[in-house]
Amino acid sequence: MANQWTQFWQNAHGFDKIMRLNTVLFAKKIQQLFNISSEDKILDIGCGPAYLEDFFAKKVKNITALDVSSDYVKSGQEKFKQFDSVQFLQIDPNDYLNFEVIKDQKFSKIVVMSVIQYFKNTEEVEKLILEMQKVSQQGGILIIADIIVQDGALQDVISLFGRAIRHGFLLAFFQFVLYARFSSYYQLRNKLLKISVQDLQKIIQKMGLKAEIMDNLTIHAERKNLVIYF
Ligand SMILES: C[S@@+](CC[C@H](N)C(=O)[O-])C[C@H]1O[C@@H](n2cnc3c(N)ncnc32)[C@H](O)[C@@H]1O
Repeated sequence: MANQWTQFWQNAHGFDKIMRLNTVLFAKKIQQLFNISSEDKILDIGCGPAYLEDFFAKKVKNITALDVSSDYVKSGQEKFKQFDSVQFLQIDPNDYLNFEVIKDQKFSKIVVMSVIQYFKNTEEVEKLILEMQKVSQQGGILIIADIIVQDGALQDVISLFGRAIRHGFLLAFFQFVLYARFSSYYQLRNKLLKISVQDLQKIIQKMGLKAEIMDNLTIHAERKNLVIYF
């Protein structure tokens, strides 16, 4: 099940700055919208540089962070070595829908943020949802965030530029654009998984989910967010 994206992410740090901005904005929004509190047990799939953990580590009961990148897992473990309540675990890049490592745990909030665009197809997204249902507490919430719904990177870049001007992160924006253009990301960009709103609605119907599609949880204003209530 390996794909070129899981290879790409083994040591890709060019997006870290923009991810930090994105995650802080997102974390503030979900904290408020879903009343995230000291009772919550968070699962973060595709944790990257652990910015969600930076934000929530002292605010929730515990966080389990998973990633296919051993680089990110190691740096997370190092950064949070003083925290018993935050753990980082590696998932197999060749078998990334195998969640054996967390099979005995239950979570109240599950976050999959800017990750499913690296999956191969919508069937993998459906499999992810089924796997998350198994590790969700009754009444738990799965937030699949930052879903690319349309073709063409241009719209993404234009809207990000607008936000960069309004919120003062132009430098991070230009670093992001340069990295996207001059790293192997550029060759791979056509392989990003896009799921239209209609297809998201089909998934909801087909799987009989209690769910909603939300706007504006991240800095990518044109991307969508699928929130599922288990
Ligand atoms: C754009 S970053 C997002 C990081 C973090 N969620 C955030 O928003 O700051 C994508 C992350 O997903 C990870 N990733 C890519 N494919 C994955 C997969 N199939 N399963 C789990 N993680 C994956 C990458 O290693 C990377 O850390």
